Amino acid sequence: MTAQLIDGNALSKQLRAEVAIRAAKLTEKGITPGLAVILVGENPASQVYVRNKVKACQDAGLHSVLEKYPATMTEAELLARVEALNNDPTIHGILVQLPLPKHIDDHKVIESISPLKDVDGFHVASAGALMVGEPGFKACTPYGCMKMLESIGYDLRGKHAVVIGRSNIVGKPMAMMLLQSSATVTICHSATPDLAYHTRQADVVVAAVGKRNVLTADMVKPGAVVIDVGMNRDDEGKLCGDVDFVGVKEVASWITPVPGGVGPMTITMLLVNTIEAAERL
Ligand code: GUN
Repeated sequence: MTAQLIDGNALSKQLRAEVAIRAAKLTEKGITPGLAVILVGENPASQVYVRNKVKACQDAGLHSVLEKYPATMTEAELLARVEALNNDPTIHGILVQLPLPKHIDDHKVIESISPLKDVDGFHVASAGALMVGEPGFKACTPYGCMKMLESIGYDLRGKHAVVIGRSNIVGKPMAMMLLQSSATVTICHSATPDLAYHTRQADVVVAAVGKRNVLTADMVKPGAVVIDVGMNRDDEGKLCGDVDFVGVKEVASWITPVPGGVGPMTITMLLVNTIEAAERL
């Protein structure tokens, strides 16, 4: 069996077109949805990410502000900027790009963002809302993975989903979203003794570790759906995921490629969250 691809570029295009229509409607009413992106320091990967986020906003008719600060910015200065944006009526979403320089406490900064503007879904209030099944902003990458499963008409009820990785940004919220859709969920991580034992029983595997070849063909049940959140480089410097794509696509029924899978969905869901923040007003 060769798996069908879940095309994140095509799905993103469709969802971003819907965002653009909603943005135009709001703008007609005099509310232009606005996202503020804060970048502190010179991390090259972060610079690419924020540039892509700002461009995606512009393409969908959202207003976006990019604030760049030197790595010497103090925590107090950053907290003051967040506070100003919390009170800025033209800004509906605030995103502080991570990682922050070492002298700044990530957690403290995220908690300073108003939960009403937490379009990354990283605030404890957003994570808590997800945990108890209340409305709140969902973390963009797992939210994008859920949209990909939805796009293939996959019914998670009663299915066994295995999430590899337990980060606050992907693994944990991913597990909660799968649970919310009535899957039976297993979370595996670096201290799991026999990862393959778990993944071989899975109807759905989400790999979110940040390491190449975490999931190989022998670890996958025939017909499983495989979602690859990884973003790594292979020996030739080419972008690759956490999944051995060449091997696993011969066993799975559906698989997300890297690039062109989950990657574009993360920014798409940021736009969706920002539109929702503006519409809630
Ligand atoms: N750094 C890597 N991914 C993300 C993300 O989705 N949001 C923020 N704020 N920082 C990141």
